[in-house]
Amino acid sequence: MWNCEYIKNRWALFFKGLLNVLTGGGEVSADKEPEMFNQPESVEEYEPVPGQRGKDVEWAPCSLVVMNRMFEIAKVTPEDCVIDPGSGDGRMVICAAKLGAKALGIEYNPRMVELSRKNAVKEGVGDKAIFVQGDLFNTDLSKATVVALFLREDINLALRPKILDMKPGTRVVSNIFHMRDWKADEAVKVEDEDYYFKNHTVYFWIVPAKVGGTWKLPDGELTLEQAFQMIKGTLRSDSSTTPISGKMTGDQITFIADGREFTGHIRGDVMDVESRNGERVEGRRGDYGRQMTEDSQAACCRSGQFDRT
Ligand SMILES: C[S@@+](CC[C@H](N)C(=O)[O-])C[C@H]1O[C@@H](n2cnc3c(N)ncnc32)[C@H](O)[C@@H]1O
Repeated sequence: MWNCEYIKNRWALFFKGLLNVLTGGGEVSADKEPEMFNQPESVEEYEPVPGQRGKDVEWAPCSLVVMNRMFEIAKVTPEDCVIDPGSGDGRMVICAAKLGAKALGIEYNPRMVELSRKNAVKEGVGDKAIFVQGDLFNTDLSKATVVALFLREDINLALRPKILDMKPGTRVVSNIFHMRDWKADEAVKVEDEDYYFKNHTVYFWIVPAKVGGTWKLPDGELTLEQAFQMIKGTLRSDSSTTPISGKMTGDQITFIADGREFTGHIRGDVMDVESRNGERVEGRRGDYGRQMTEDSQAACCRSGQFDRT
């Protein structure tokens, strides 16, 4: 059922569905749940229709070409645990399982969950592709090393605080929809000639470690302000104050101070960085949290990751 004909034959419905997904035109509130899943009784007969209502976003199937590219960009391997919140007919989860990853789909519509399980068995990954009926907003995503999204921008934004609280280094990949001011680490154009529309953009992020605040270094103090993966601040010693700017990639930190590039890692309350000429500096967290941006501070407080004293 996942060949191009299937998609082509339903392009009109699909277009309607996708339009709804893109515009939020079909948004359904939680209290209207029951009648939206009126479908044939038997699972055998169940054939989802692109554009059909979902709890918070309609079902529109991801292009197979795009989906494969998403997992290439996220560099999914058998070491990964991939979660697809809003997993539809299970195609993304099945694709991840075929790459050897453990894969979990969360889908609100129970009939789609049944269909996904059947599809996974048909595709020979019934053991690796797990599907759970549930609400993506009430599901623990913390086990994921990769989160794969094909939802809508407002849903991505609603999930964003939870995603930012995930383990630093967690990869997030999204078909079509971005996360506004949390700019993607990578945005890749992908073409699929056989899909209803040809041009797609895949967005990719790596959850940054939280580093905002003050760090005590041997010769001074590093004060960092963090906005998602971007950092800026000052490096202050007895004799000078130097502005710094840089970036987090998971728990890896890179910054430039006084023309020198430092790179290293954050391990709990320790920052271990080295300059290109081999100058190594170890810092320790000082006065936590004061310099964080509102957004990252809120996320930190929610996670309980930073103790305030
Ligand atoms: C745009 S489709 C994407 C399907 C699949 N991930 C793919 O790429 O083919 C979004 C899916 O999310 C499901 N959904 C909508 N709101 C949900 C919620 N609150 N919890 C779980 N699933 C939800 C819909 O039923 C639909 O199957």
